[in-house]
Amino acid sequence: MRVLVGGGTGFVGRNLTQLLRSRGHEVTLISRHPGKDRITWNDLSHSGLPPCEAAVNLAGENVLNPFRRWSESFRQEVVASRVETTKILAKAIAEAGRPPRTWVLITGVGYYRPSYTTEYTEESPGGDFDFFSRLVTCWEAAAKIPNDATRQVVVRSGVVLGRDGGAIAQMLWPFRLGLGGPIASGRQPFPWIHVADLAGIVAHALEREDVGGILNGVAPSAVATTNGGFAQAMGSVLRRPAVLPLPGFVVSAVFGPERSIMLLEGQRVVPRRTLESNFCFAFPDLPSALQDILA
Ligand SMILES: NC(=O)c1ccc[n+]([C@@H]2O[C@H](COP(=O)([O-])OP(=O)(O)OC[C@H]3O[C@@H](n4cnc5c(N)ncnc54)[C@H](OP(=O)(O)O)[C@@H]3O)[C@@H](O)[C@H]2O)c1
Repeated sequence: MRVLVGGGTGFVGRNLTQLLRSRGHEVTLISRHPGKDRITWNDLSHSGLPPCEAAVNLAGENVLNPFRRWSESFRQEVVASRVETTKILAKAIAEAGRPPRTWVLITGVGYYRPSYTTEYTEESPGGDFDFFSRLVTCWEAAAKIPNDATRQVVVRSGVVLGRDGGAIAQMLWPFRLGLGGPIASGRQPFPWIHVADLAGIVAHALEREDVGGILNGVAPSAVATTNGGFAQAMGSVLRRPAVLPLPGFVVSAVFGPERSIMLLEGQRVVPRRTLESNFCFAFPDLPSALQDILA
């Protein structure tokens, strides 16, 4: 099938593109910058949807960019890069003469309220208590199209782990130097997924006609992973000590109190509908995921 992938030049997009091409699908990216096998968001707004059987949106400014201050303008960029791109793509799908069969959006588990104890499935409430939860609500609302011909899927992703980007790329050097460790108490839940599985869930959603609605994009064992457990597992795979905690006040000073919630708190998320849809995780547990990524 021909798949249009917004934000497909990024970390998740590169892995998804490779997977889709390896399964015989054709991929066209939507980017801010023109190039080979790409269209721009302006092209999409002005010329409408090119012929395709599926569309995916992965666009979004990196929230945890440590070089960007958590200012009002950066917050607006974080929102617009997700909500506006999703609106542009949803509008193009709704107006297409031959709409795609499937439309997949990746959002985040920030929809669910951080808690040490509560376990969240796709049916759990959320989306209305802080900046990130309200962002996910607006983002998912922007994807809605009044069109029964197109199957809609939203994957609420946890922290994506992979070799060539995301959280691990940012943490690897402190850990390699023996300066790694838990963030704050390390007791906060750490909802994670291997990038190969996140790309796999999107491909599964595109290929399986019976998959629809919300899917949680976290590994099955992530519900029991804490930030401290993650640090310990990283140290053990890298054979380095991982005992130096990063104090919460340092995280707050670097990222600002509102954004540092993403690191100082977490959600225990269960991928119930994802498993019920018969998706088979390649990396269901943390040691095997980290072994694959760090070896
Ligand atoms: N990585 C994670 O741990 C994680 C966790 C939960 C959810 N997610 C979500 O999953 C999606 C993909 O994540 P990722 O890690 O692959 O993201 P990424 O690599 O940081 O960015 C994906 C793409 O978004 C586009 N983009 C960046 N800033 C933009 C802006 N200001 N306006 C418009 N487009 C912009 C870029 O494409 P161009 O430069 O080609 O335009 C970029 O390649 C994102 O929406 C993210 O919020 C990621």
